[in-house]
Amino acid sequence: MVCLGNICRSPLAEGILRQKITERNLEVEVHSSGTSNYHISESADSRMISTARRHGIDISNHKARQFVVNDFDYYDKIYVMDGQNFRNVSRLARNDEDRSKVQLIMNVVEPASHFEVPDPYYSGNDGFELVFKMLDEACEKIADNIETKKR
Ligand code: 4NP
Repeated sequence: MVCLGNICRSPLAEGILRQKITERNLEVEVHSSGTSNYHISESADSRMISTARRHGIDISNHKARQFVVNDFDYYDKIYVMDGQNFRNVSRLARNDEDRSKVQLIMNVVEPASHFEVPDPYYSGNDGFELVFKMLDEACEKIADNIETKKR
């Protein structure tokens, strides 16, 4: 899960998907990062920690890290939140295989829609709740897809 700062959207996406994976007894590693170096080693935004907690998800132990090229080797799928993240990650891709791993997360719900998960950093509480709703829907679909593949 990748966003810009790795303190709002992607830490929540990581927390939501990890919970769904655990509930379904699937074995998948989920992590998150940001394309920028703005907030390296910081905790998630306190407003996002509260939003997650309201929905029964604990992201209080999160520490922000920056996306690195080696992540292409370790991860099978790289979900990004918006077009800027898509361009930033794709710029680091070394080949078509790397590029093929990068996907806008909301395209999982609505293929080819190119909907973006809006950056809530400068928004009010509504923005955080909206991000939760969007990511919960997307992560449910991702967990469904992983489960179907396993069967
Ligand atoms: P995120 O939100 O990409 O969802 O973690 C942001 C957090 C911080 C900044 C931008 C977006 N910032 O510019 O500091």
